[in-house]
Amino acid sequence: MSVDPAYTEHLAHNYHPLEVVVSHGDGAWVTDVDGKRYLDCLAAYSAVNFGHGHPLLVAAAKEQLDRITLTSRAFHNDQLGPFATALAALAKKDMVLPMNTGAEAVESAIKVARAWGYRVKGVTPDAAEIIVMDGNFHGRTTTIISFSNDEQARADFGPYTPGFVSVPYGDAAALEAAITPNTVAVLVEPIQGEAGIVVPPADFLPAVRTLADTHNVLFIADEIQSGLGRTGATFQCDNVGVTPDLYLLGKALGGGIVPVSAVVGNRDILGVLRPGEHGSTFGGNPLAAAVGHAVVELLATGEPQERARLLGRHLQDGIAGLVGHGVLGYRGAGLWVGVDIDPALATGRVVCERLAERGVLVKDTHGSTIRFAPPIVASETDIDFAVEQLREVLAELA
Ligand SMILES: Cc1ncc(COP(=O)(O)O)c(C=O)c1O
Repeated sequence: MSVDPAYTEHLAHNYHPLEVVVSHGDGAWVTDVDGKRYLDCLAAYSAVNFGHGHPLLVAAAKEQLDRITLTSRAFHNDQLGPFATALAALAKKDMVLPMNTGAEAVESAIKVARAWGYRVKGVTPDAAEIIVMDGNFHGRTTTIISFSNDEQARADFGPYTPGFVSVPYGDAAALEAAITPNTVAVLVEPIQGEAGIVVPPADFLPAVRTLADTHNVLFIADEIQSGLGRTGATFQCDNVGVTPDLYLLGKALGGGIVPVSAVVGNRDILGVLRPGEHGSTFGGNPLAAAVGHAVVELLATGEPQERARLLGRHLQDGIAGLVGHGVLGYRGAGLWVGVDIDPALATGRVVCERLAERGVLVKDTHGSTIRFAPPIVASETDIDFAVEQLREVLAELA
């Protein structure tokens, strides 16, 4: 198999993909241009939670393609209302602000939190502060990278947007110390995905909730990667029994078919936006709404969440058996596991390349950590296959 030279010649080099050229997908598996099959254990960073070509989602998209795909929000469309109603009900909130990419949902929430700070909380104009977590990943826009600690994501892209303060992830005392009268929000990933599937101490998110209530600060949970079934619950916040003020959703909300993201919250917060203050040409388009609605209907059954919980236990049990055999440690929630490979054996990249040769697609992050996030439609046999391939790769490298 050879990679199209256009990748070098005509595409900006902002990615370093594995040498796999995918042409088809079906459920948890993809097929390359030579007909070789791979178990997709990345699932497009959890955007493909429900598998490639899920029949109900594809049917919803096809039906809508034949009707109408884009109206802009200058007019109403008949898909957006039912989608917003269903998503608000799933999240047990009042309102939805539909956007497209995850980064747009984050940007939208930053604007909403600032406007809420000035109009409701009474913060001095232009003085609003948002507290973020060290090691965060919320996207790639100039404002979002302004509060990243990852030099690769930031360097040479300044000047940076002010108004953010970063504290150690999982450290409630540091969070409390950083709150000032100008603090409008705390922006948190319930599990830090890009950082290596880092799970905070069990009492951290409840402490964020308490501090947010005590200091009249919004708790914004970025569930763009952790939400919508991946962790064995609708939201990772459910797993620790907390309810944020705003949920940020994306990735799987579009069923792996179209980009769909949203900010979801109650009227007292999302209601601060007035006509003309915020928008997106594609946000809330009928195709996105039809697919997003079908995704919400899938989740409303609770079946994907339950499956992720059971399969995740199976995956974690399998990985546990590799500790001491090339794996230093692992952590995760549901069907989402970060695995620390012994750096003395190989980089995460090399392990990913070896796994790809054996028909398993995963992605490394931060040196020697690799993450497993297969589609929730995978089978136990698929999970066993992935673990066995990792065991054999590590044995080869030892
Ligand atoms: C937690 C989190 N927030 C936001 C984003 C940005 O999403 P997008 O790439 O759709 O802009 C990501 C992407 O990986 C993410 O993991």
